[in-house]
Amino acid sequence: MSRQFSRTLITSALPYANGPVHIGHLAGVYVPADIYARYLRLKGEEVLFIGGSDEHGIPITIKARKEGVTPQDIVDRYHSMISKSFEQFGITFDIYSRTTSEIHKKTASDFFRTLYDKGEFTELESEQYYDEEAGQYLADRYITGSCPHCGNENAYGDQCEQCGTSLSPTELINPKSALSGSVPVMRTTKHWYLPLDKHEPWLRQWILEDHKEWRSNVYGQCKSWLDLGLQPRAVSRDLDWGVPVPVEGAEGKVLYVWFDAPIGYISNTRELLPDSWEKWWKQEDSRLVHFIGKDNIVFHCIVFPAMLKAEGSFILPDNVPSNEFLNLEGDKISTSRNWAVWLHEYLEEFPGKQDVLRYVLTANAPETKDNDFTWKDFQARNNNELVAVLGNFVNRALVLTQKYFDSRVPAAGELTDYDRETIAAAARVKDEVEKLLETYHFRDAQREAMNLARIGNKYLADCEPWKTAKNDMERTATILHIALQITANLSIVCEPFLPFSAEKLRSFLQTEKLPWEQLGRFDLLAEGHSLGKAELLFEKIEDATIELQVQKLLDTKKANEADAYRAKPVKENIQFDTFEKLDIRVGTVLECEKVPKADKLLRFLLDDGLEKRTILSGIAAYYPNPQELVGRQVCFIANLEPRKLRGILSEGMILSAENSDGRLALVSPTKEVLPGSQVV
Ligand code: MF3
Ligand code: ZN
Repeated sequence: MSRQFSRTLITSALPYANGPVHIGHLAGVYVPADIYARYLRLKGEEVLFIGGSDEHGIPITIKARKEGVTPQDIVDRYHSMISKSFEQFGITFDIYSRTTSEIHKKTASDFFRTLYDKGEFTELESEQYYDEEAGQYLADRYITGSCPHCGNENAYGDQCEQCGTSLSPTELINPKSALSGSVPVMRTTKHWYLPLDKHEPWLRQWILEDHKEWRSNVYGQCKSWLDLGLQPRAVSRDLDWGVPVPVEGAEGKVLYVWFDAPIGYISNTRELLPDSWEKWWKQEDSRLVHFIGKDNIVFHCIVFPAMLKAEGSFILPDNVPSNEFLNLEGDKISTSRNWAVWLHEYLEEFPGKQDVLRYVLTANAPETKDNDFTWKDFQARNNNELVAVLGNFVNRALVLTQKYFDSRVPAAGELTDYDRETIAAAARVKDEVEKLLETYHFRDAQREAMNLARIGNKYLADCEPWKTAKNDMERTATILHIALQITANLSIVCEPFLPFSAEKLRSFLQTEKLPWEQLGRFDLLAEGHSLGKAELLFEKIEDATIELQVQKLLDTKKANEADAYRAKPVKENIQFDTFEKLDIRVGTVLECEKVPKADKLLRFLLDDGLEKRTILSGIAAYYPNPQELVGRQVCFIANLEPRKLRGILSEGMILSAENSDGRLALVSPTKEVLPGSQVV
């Protein structure tokens, strides 16, 4: 905080438009960014808050293909859903646009071209799988084949989901294109790379020395990336969904989604302010702050800054307050497993309760470590904090004023020491909240803001105006005067955190939106000022309501488990002679041990009735004591073309039964037979 800035440009990660948004998005990025934007606006500062949808990338094309629609259909659907959710939750973007906009395509394309013309990229040819039938290069996810480690036949070109190994497509045995099913061929392709290794020295200085104030999780992640040494990163892909690479001879190539997406922040600023956007991005007195989740740290702290630096005319972020992840009832939030609280569903089930969710997510914000959202905690925070502290205080102040002073702000008489102490304590809240917000401690800042309601609540409980009203109206007037001024202060301090409730407070008090600077003052409401009608600010959430939500999650869990255990559909019929081609036999295990440095593999030596044969099998995880298998009988395919795995020749394949969750069990005859017996 040593530098003076004239304006703040706030960006929040552009969510992928391939699904709706859930509480994890809100807690991690959008609520803190919105708190920050609202706070700075309330202070009268010059602020711009940029949002938008990230509409390129492979997952969107995969989803489109699955549904038999175009990628544009997918992003149109989710862009409108997402922007509606944000609006409903009071996220005050100055613009929420999208990376399929014309201005974005032009901005991203020009940005690439500038770097290209300046010689900031390196060009590299590499071999990549190409689907001749589909006429396309294949992204790693679009290639399937057998895993070289465990034999899983449905491994992807980037990972085997059975044994968890990360793969490169060339490691797959019998690769197949997921587009056409054909066997892909190798073709040479050219790509452009951002040589991050060349940027490493200044990045080290800029992050590790000049930004020691960044959150420890952000700083730590950057440090470990830098310490590992940065590598050049490809910024183009062979794909037909994205921003075309604006270079001759680059037909069929687009910008890599992580190259174009952050430029979306710039495009959206341009779209909003065609004539003055540059002052936000290019003037040294502008402060750039990126709100993101932890999986985005490397892109916002290393890759995007390197892009901006290479371009040469842009400022770099002053801070990147990244959150960690929010879990749901102890499990990682997952779109594909439907393990989430979706914002659009929440609003159907809790209409009007946007602030309750905003409050709970901030109170539990995963600021420096992963955190858990539970419905029990949601209920407790609503009932014990929002209702019992904030709502209760405001309601008592207003209802008592209505009762004793006909809803007019009474004049304060002489103050007691206790009154003065209360006023002083309330006035201190401003400094505390400011200090915390300006250092991105949103969770503590909200707690401190709530403290003002606690002070008010305690003040009323201690002064008991309902008792003084029996014989001392002057004292009662003073107490309620102070309580109402605290309420007016709450309408200011709550605005960044609980904007819907702050608006209600203003209508109860019949006041305009007051600037932040007035926080801490005790003359916000003039004597005799007429108050509006008091309603409840929050309402209690009953056990039954919460149980319904918990049940909904339990049902999801059950459905997921049922899915996982449903048997696979039967394969296409074959003729008997096809079956006869397989030579399946029984062998007796002579030796069995783990293959060194291959976690998943066991090496079997079998007596196959003729001689001894070695077979490798990826079932080590399910037989922790392989020794115990010696002497047992197993079934194996005897006429499978031998192949080398980890330098060992594997002569066949041992049969095992696979649970649909991937657990394996060896198949054995129920009675001992002679080794070499055929399975018929
Ligand atoms: N779509 C990315 C994600 O959800 C975030 C993109 S942020 C931006 O992880 F900088 F690229 F815009
Ligand atoms: Zn595998």
